[in-house]
Amino acid sequence: MLNIVLFGPPGSGKGTQSSRIAQKYKLVHLSTGELFREECRKGTVVGKVLGRYMEQGALVPDNIVLKQLYKTAIRFIHSPGIIFDGFPRTLVQAQVFDKILEKKKNPLNLVICMVVEEKELIRRMIGRSEDSGRKDDNRETIEKRVEVYHKQTKPLIHYYHNQGKLFRVSGMAPVETVTGRIAKVVDTFIQHRCLWKKVV
Ligand code: AP5
Repeated sequence: MLNIVLFGPPGSGKGTQSSRIAQKYKLVHLSTGELFREECRKGTVVGKVLGRYMEQGALVPDNIVLKQLYKTAIRFIHSPGIIFDGFPRTLVQAQVFDKILEKKKNPLNLVICMVVEEKELIRRMIGRSEDSGRKDDNRETIEKRVEVYHKQTKPLIHYYHNQGKLFRVSGMAPVETVTGRIAKVVDTFIQHRCLWKKVV
């Protein structure tokens, strides 16, 4: 099984690239943002709670995120792999995630960190706001989301760097070029894993 986290600030292309990479390597694409928006659309009690955090550009509390994600991810335990888009976003989420994967003997393999200039992030999200229908796609909330990323999510770069799992990829290029860059990282990982299996 191949477990990948696509990591990066809002607007860096996590959703766009996760979907392309999932298709290329036949992985399940699991986006917590999409999962939560779907819950909001259904109008469930949980959906209403999630919506309140998302509309403010704040992170959903860890206990709610972990519960929602676990309920969904467990269904894909026998898939060739999962690409996690927008999860984990806090140290607590990352630590619990590691423990769960360890128990399942299915470790996280790669964390791909999208690097995009802040001006470009804002430009992309403002551009998308015209037809996304997302309540968090307005200048004030976009700026808040970027700020929240810096305060609460960016520290995870250090966490995964220390585990030797972090790979930085520049997202400052056309979509296809960025996909090629990510695929190179994934292919290198797969080749090394195959070689390692032959040796032991
Ligand atoms: P989420 O849905 O994950 O939103 P986000 O992280 O703010 O990211 P976006 O979806 O805005 O951007 P993206 O990086 O996916 O880029 P995209 O491909 O869309 O989360 C929403 C909310 O849910 C959070 O704020 C939080 O409240 C809650 N939440 C979710 N997960 C959580 C968690 N784990 N813990 C707590 N709370 C959580 O691209 C953006 C735009 O740029 C698009 O228009 C796209 O077409 C365009 N674009 C993409 N790539 C390129 C390119 N290379 N060149 C030019 N344009 C491009």
